[in-house]
Amino acid sequence: MKRNGAGITIIFLICFLSVELWRGDSANIASHLKVHIKDVQEMDCEVHRQGCKLKLSAVGTAKEVDSKAQEHQSDFYMQQRRDAIAKACARLPPQDISRNMHHAMTSRLHRFLYCPVEKSASTFWRRFMYQLVLTQPMQSPFDVSVQTVYSGKFPISQVQVTESGEALDKMLLSFTKMLFIREPYSRLLSAYVDKLLAPNPILWSMWGLPSVALCHEPATKPWCKDRSGYIRHQQNIFPAGDVEQPVSKVGLDGTASTSCGEDVTFPEYVKLATTTLARTNAHVMPIYRMCSPCYVNYTVIGHMETFDKDVRLLLPKINVTESQVNLEKMDANVAYDAIEDSVHDSMSKAWLKQSLKCISKLEVVRRIWRKLQIRGFISWRIKPSDFNLDHLSVLNMDGPALIKVLVSANGRSSNKTELKLQKKQALKEAYSLLQPDQLKEISDTFGPDFTLFGFQQRPKAFEDFSRADFINTGALDLSKDWSMERVL
Ligand SMILES: *[C@@H]1O[C@H](CO)[C@@H](O)[C@H](O)[C@H]1NC(C)=O
Ligand SMILES: *[C@@H]1O[C@H](CO)[C@@H](O)[C@H](O)[C@H]1NC(C)=O
Ligand SMILES: *[C@@H]1O[C@H](CO)[C@@H](O)[C@H](O)[C@H]1NC(C)=O
Repeated sequence: MKRNGAGITIIFLICFLSVELWRGDSANIASHLKVHIKDVQEMDCEVHRQGCKLKLSAVGTAKEVDSKAQEHQSDFYMQQRRDAIAKACARLPPQDISRNMHHAMTSRLHRFLYCPVEKSASTFWRRFMYQLVLTQPMQSPFDVSVQTVYSGKFPISQVQVTESGEALDKMLLSFTKMLFIREPYSRLLSAYVDKLLAPNPILWSMWGLPSVALCHEPATKPWCKDRSGYIRHQQNIFPAGDVEQPVSKVGLDGTASTSCGEDVTFPEYVKLATTTLARTNAHVMPIYRMCSPCYVNYTVIGHMETFDKDVRLLLPKINVTESQVNLEKMDANVAYDAIEDSVHDSMSKAWLKQSLKCISKLEVVRRIWRKLQIRGFISWRIKPSDFNLDHLSVLNMDGPALIKVLVSANGRSSNKTELKLQKKQALKEAYSLLQPDQLKEISDTFGPDFTLFGFQQRPKAFEDFSRADFINTGALDLSKDWSMERVL
């Protein structure tokens, strides 16, 4: 390694980033800064953040070469991510190194390969691949609907990686290869919020019921919820008479004594995830098994946390411009897409027919609401009742009407800092609910994902919940509105 050159680059970058940080430039930069400091420590360099703070003369220089530094910086941080992977791979036992690329998609014309990781912007990237392969020159991913890319219209056969053996090796050598990932704890929670906390009768049945089934004889299983005297539907009191009940009857008194999977708790789901889903389901499966990062020498390893920057780094490598992707539309689109996506299936006739056997229509709406709050699109301060949503008013509400309300609630959620806090708080609380040995099971199951991609197995934030004064604000508690009052 060219030690001196690298050292100077690092000193420069740290100073540059520290300066950015002082200007109050968001947590984003702070997280890069951490990465760099960690890297410096790994290289036994003697530079400290403190040292740079004192050398203010570096500021002028840093600003002059601003754009150049940024360009350099992007290659540099990506190189760091790639080096970290190579290093971690060298330590992985051979049985953990997979060479399976069946999950990947490719545009041979662009010599581009993408391995989708569910819960890590994979919907965006599927739309991207769709446009990349089908439009010439490529049009914006936002011009194609989410439903289209998950339908039969997606040219699966065109994008499939069918190569294997030497042909695959050869292809990988010359292609630009991309992986887009997410912090493992956040990914695991995201699947729960999206599939089980959200009104999703299909996943309640596929994941919820098996999770609950793992909880027979709960006395010996501290992660299990007590379901003795379980009553479903108790809040589902409809006025008699002129309002048509869209509810399939679950016993005439509206109660039932078995779960339909809708009440599965986060610890129960985590148990299923670490014992089964991690081996069988793409939403939960560890990335190192699905995308073979020790076999494929990925060119771009994107993180959700640095999404924009990583996209900008990729595009020139495959001859696509930012305006083609319409990146500037990204922010507005992300919120709308999240809302549309949350409502589309959950409020469809087919799904409602199933979910209303288990919960009330109001709870369908409230669960969508909470999901968007946990994902940071609606402030905890804004409640369904602020929009006069109650049992009666939601009875005849359809998807488009709910979307209107949610878009309005999103528009009123303007404090981005607080929305970020919400996400963090929900993550912390979710993991505070686990038994200590469940955290160990996560480490065991997803261990390589943490080390390969440079995430902490024991995040600092998790230390909070062993403290006596840890406050659970009820982020995952659907029985009442979420209030963060006590922690702000
Ligand atoms: C890059 O894209 C442009 C416009 O889409 C096209 O005209 C050009 O030939 C492409 N260049 C390469 C090297 O593929
Ligand atoms: C990975 O690819 C880069 C170029 O993108 C190359 O410099 C490096 O040597 C490759 N590493 C391995 C292990 O093939
Ligand atoms: C945004 O929320 C944070 C955290 O609650 C608070 O400290 C800050 O004052 C808020 N900013 C505005 C502009 O309301």
